[in-house]
Amino acid sequence: MDSILVKGNGPLNGEIAISGAKNAALTLMPATLLTDEPLTLTNVPRLLDIKTTNELLSSLGTEVAMMQEGQIIVLDTNQITNHTAHYDIVRKMRASILVLGPMLARDGKAIVSLPGGCAIGARPVDLHLQGLEAMGATIELKEGYIHAVAKGGLKGATIDFSFASVGATENILMAATLAKGTTVINNAAREPEIVDLADCLRKMGAQISGDGSPTITIQGVDKLHGATHPVVADRIELGTYMLAPVIAGGEVELLGGRINLLHSYCEKLDEAGISVTETKRGLKVTSRNGRINAVNVVTEPFPGFPTDLQAQMMAALCTANGTSVLEETIFENRFMHAPELIRMGANIDVHGGTATVTGVNRLKGAPVMATDLRASVSLILAGLAASGETIVSRVYHLDRGYERLVRKLSSCGANIERITS
Ligand code: EPZ
Repeated sequence: MDSILVKGNGPLNGEIAISGAKNAALTLMPATLLTDEPLTLTNVPRLLDIKTTNELLSSLGTEVAMMQEGQIIVLDTNQITNHTAHYDIVRKMRASILVLGPMLARDGKAIVSLPGGCAIGARPVDLHLQGLEAMGATIELKEGYIHAVAKGGLKGATIDFSFASVGATENILMAATLAKGTTVINNAAREPEIVDLADCLRKMGAQISGDGSPTITIQGVDKLHGATHPVVADRIELGTYMLAPVIAGGEVELLGGRINLLHSYCEKLDEAGISVTETKRGLKVTSRNGRINAVNVVTEPFPGFPTDLQAQMMAALCTANGTSVLEETIFENRFMHAPELIRMGANIDVHGGTATVTGVNRLKGAPVMATDLRASVSLILAGLAASGETIVSRVYHLDRGYERLVRKLSSCGANIERITS
C-alpha cells in the first residue's frame, strides 16, 4: 500500500487547477441508464471512483469510451442487458446506489446490493427506498440486495424527505424524469452537484424546476435523448486546497474556483482571518501572516458548512490562535482524523459529535494513517507546516477523490512525494 511523505517546507506560491467534481460525476454517470442515446461528459476527474463507476455501468450493459486521458467519457446504454448491481462492485463505492432509480425508471426493474456502511457511518438508504415506493415501486430486501420492481413504470408522487439527503434527492430526481405525471420533492438537498445533475437532465429533455431550492418539481416525459455536459468544478477539492496556503503560508490561486460554490465556507474563512479574493481565473487565497483566529464550525447540508470540509478545517484550526469547537451533524463517526492529528501534537478533545481544538504553535511530523477520503487529505494539509516528516499511509483513500494531488501541491512548492511500496 502506497504512502505519501510530506515535509514542512515553508510558504506555498503558485496556482492549482480545480478538477471536475467527483460527487457530481458520480451522479451524472448513472444518468446514461435513462436513455438509449450517448451521454458525453467532459471535465471528468480522473479518479478511482470514476473507474469503479465505469466498471459498474459496463456490467449493466453501458458502452464506455474514454478520451483525453479520461477527461471525456462517452456513455452509451443502448439497452440495459443486466439489471443487477453486484455487491463486489457496490461495496467498493456506496454511490453505486445511484443506478437504482435510473434502472427502475428505464425498465421497471432493478436489483442493487445494499451499499453497507463505511468508515464515517452506517449510511442507510431508507430515504431512497421510501421515495421510490412512493412512486409505485415494490421494494424487497433479500440476502443483502434491494429487489425493486415498478410494473407499468413509476408514477409521479409528492415525496417529503425527513432529511435533505444528497443521494436520495439524486436517485429520485433521475427516476422522476421518466415517471408518469409530476413528482415534487420536499426538503430536497440543495448542493451544487444536484443543480449540475438537473442541468444535465434538462439537456437530455427532462422537465425540472426548483433544483437548488428545498422543493424540486419534475414533470415526467416519455423519453430522454443524449447530451453533452461538463462536470461542475469540485467545490470540496477547491475548499481543500484553499487551506494549503492558510496552513503553510504564502499565496495560491485556485483556477476555476468560484465563491458561490462555497459561500458559507468562505464566510468562515473570513472570520478566521483568511483573505479570499475572486480573480478572473478563480480564487486567490492568502494567509494574513501569522496564526489564524479560532472559529466554531457546525456542519450542515448545503448551503451550510460542508461536512466534506470538516476534517480539512480541523487541520487548519490545530494551529489557530485560541480554541475552536467543531460540531459534525451529518455523519455519526467523522472525527477519525482527530487521533491522527493528535499524534502530530494537536490538542483535540472529541466528545460524540463535537471536537474541541485548542491551537498549538506548530505540529510535529509523524507517521499517521488515512481512514477515509477527507481525513486523509486533512493529514496531508497538516503535514505541510509540521516540523519534520509526516508519512500518511493507506493513501488509496486519497486516490478515490483527489486527482494528481502530489503534482498539484508540489507545483506550488510543497515538499511532497508518493512512496510506492
Ligand atoms: C453525499 O453522500 C456525498 N457523496 C458525501 O461525500 C457527502 O458527505 C454527503 O453527500 C453529504 O453532503 C456523494 O455525493 C457520492 P446523504 P450521501 O444522503 O448521498 C443519512 C465525500 O467525502 N441518510 O446526504 O450518502 C446518512 O446516514 C463523500 O466525497 C439516511 O439516514 O449523503 C448521513 O448521516 C462522503 N438515510 C446523512 O443522511 C438515507 O436514505 C447524509 O447522507 C440517506 C442518508
